[in-house]
Amino acid sequence: MCGIFGYLGSNQQAGSLILDGLKTLEYRGYDSWGVAIKKNDGSLYIEKHIGKIGSASLPSFPAHVGIGHTRWATHGGVRNENAHPHTDCTKKIAIVHNGIVENFETIKSDLNKKGHTFKSETDSEVIAHLIEEIYKTEPNKVKVMQKLRSHITGLNAVITFFPEDESFYIIKNGSPIVIGEGDNEFYIASDASAIIPHTKKVYFLEDNEMVELSKKGVSLFDTKGVHQNITYTTLTYAAESTEKGSFDHFMLKEISEQPKILRNIGETQKTEIKKAADEISSSYGTYLIGCGTASYACLAGTYLFSKIAHRHVNFAIGSEFSYLLDFLKENSLVFALSQSGETIDIISSVKKAKEKKAQLLSLTNSQGSSLYRMSDHNLLLHAGPEKAVASTKAYTAKISFLYLIAHQLAGTFEKGKINLLKAVDEISQIIQNKSSIQSLAAKMKDYKSIFILGRGVSYAAALESALKIKEVSYIHAEGFAAGELKHGVIALIEKGTPVILFNPEDETYEDTLSAAHEVSARGAHVIGVSSKNDKVYDTFIEVKNCGNATIIPNVVIAQLLGYFLALAKGLDPDKPRNLAKSVTVK
Ligand code: M6R
Repeated sequence: MCGIFGYLGSNQQAGSLILDGLKTLEYRGYDSWGVAIKKNDGSLYIEKHIGKIGSASLPSFPAHVGIGHTRWATHGGVRNENAHPHTDCTKKIAIVHNGIVENFETIKSDLNKKGHTFKSETDSEVIAHLIEEIYKTEPNKVKVMQKLRSHITGLNAVITFFPEDESFYIIKNGSPIVIGEGDNEFYIASDASAIIPHTKKVYFLEDNEMVELSKKGVSLFDTKGVHQNITYTTLTYAAESTEKGSFDHFMLKEISEQPKILRNIGETQKTEIKKAADEISSSYGTYLIGCGTASYACLAGTYLFSKIAHRHVNFAIGSEFSYLLDFLKENSLVFALSQSGETIDIISSVKKAKEKKAQLLSLTNSQGSSLYRMSDHNLLLHAGPEKAVASTKAYTAKISFLYLIAHQLAGTFEKGKINLLKAVDEISQIIQNKSSIQSLAAKMKDYKSIFILGRGVSYAAALESALKIKEVSYIHAEGFAAGELKHGVIALIEKGTPVILFNPEDETYEDTLSAAHEVSARGAHVIGVSSKNDKVYDTFIEVKNCGNATIIPNVVIAQLLGYFLALAKGLDPDKPRNLAKSVTVK
């Protein structure tokens, strides 16, 4: 969703620095962008555009302070006027905003009556005018911000820039904001990955905190405006891990990183995995929650915990969980999975679970993220920054953790590790031979629909595989439980319909093979993914048996298929239409 990058310091090229910061945040998804920069001659320079930043540059002028924003449209269409930053009537205040001001219409009509004129259709612009109005009678800017906060409703992060004294005021309730302190310079961003090339010393704002940032330094205030000590966090990942390197796309880079990441999990995370297993063991009941890809990892988790550890865990989609938490008790455990740790549907549900005093264990890829900070116990994926919108390495890392936690619960960690390492070898093979998947994609690119079938944990893998294919290639792809075929799905099969079948040699093998025959008899083109070939398959992709970890290489095949389908269709796999990397707005 929207990205924010601000700078105050001694670098006289603030414009290009801010633009570069915004480019780092491009992966979040956006449809317009803008900057407000105070020139050294004292004037405020504002530039806004619809579309991507691409190779755009700003006119070169000396400047050392400003703010930029990438907008993902919610209120008001994709128009220059709706892009941020927004200014008040006097142009002495510029704001950027992430979130939704739920009561903006009421505020706007009040401000209209007071003579304010609006240039955009956004909820965000009312903030600039409201600040202008409050500032007329309240000279203390900290108090202005407190009043602003009491007027607006919804989950919001607002950065207010006062060019006159080069100060920023940041309030946050919901959308993430992080500030970074370098050598006599300060950064503000919606995501730490934009700050990491400059400094690793960061502070993640908590909900309802306020930060004043000026040449004098950083001041932190609590809800009541009382000054607080600021304790910085040191980020641990390297700046180069946020770059594409020699790869054409982040998606391919991230797919290719999986063997190393998964091997590392197997070899170094035993202690953390044991702690998580102990939490689950001592809980009254465990609820796995996640959204999108993370939800499919959770669903796979229910099968893995059942099969390997003989333990029932509940599962809910993050956005549905708040309607399902009636049974939570003080010693219930909510196990939340989220790559970003910022997904609003998870955060909102988890807040409600915490009100019921449930314990929160999270598995995220973002140290310091909102979910990370809210959790009683944390596990980190250690997958490195994931920038492609389609989640790949974070998914397989999540499955690896769940798989090993299940084995730890069963007292068979070492067996799990051996299978995970087998899966790692399989993934390496698949990546090495990816040209065969590229050829398959070339043949499949004009298909209208692709179906993916599996049973047991392979059903969860089928759902994730379908999501991967549809979100980057825009081909309608659906995952089904193979046993559901005769209950309706088979009506969709006609001559030539591609059906990918996950058929590992486990307890599901024979029944899944029957499904292959059923769709084949109706003319489907059957693509069998298995350790054992069968004449019913029109195309066979061999994946060696790695026990229940076989779903990991199986999904990697779908990741590559999605990637190559996108390329074959001339699409950018890193930035699928309408999607944002981190969903921070409901
Ligand atoms: O950051 P999260 O893991 O919480 O994100 C959840 C989903 O938004 C995310 O997995 C989404 O479904 C991806 N686009 C899938 O590739």
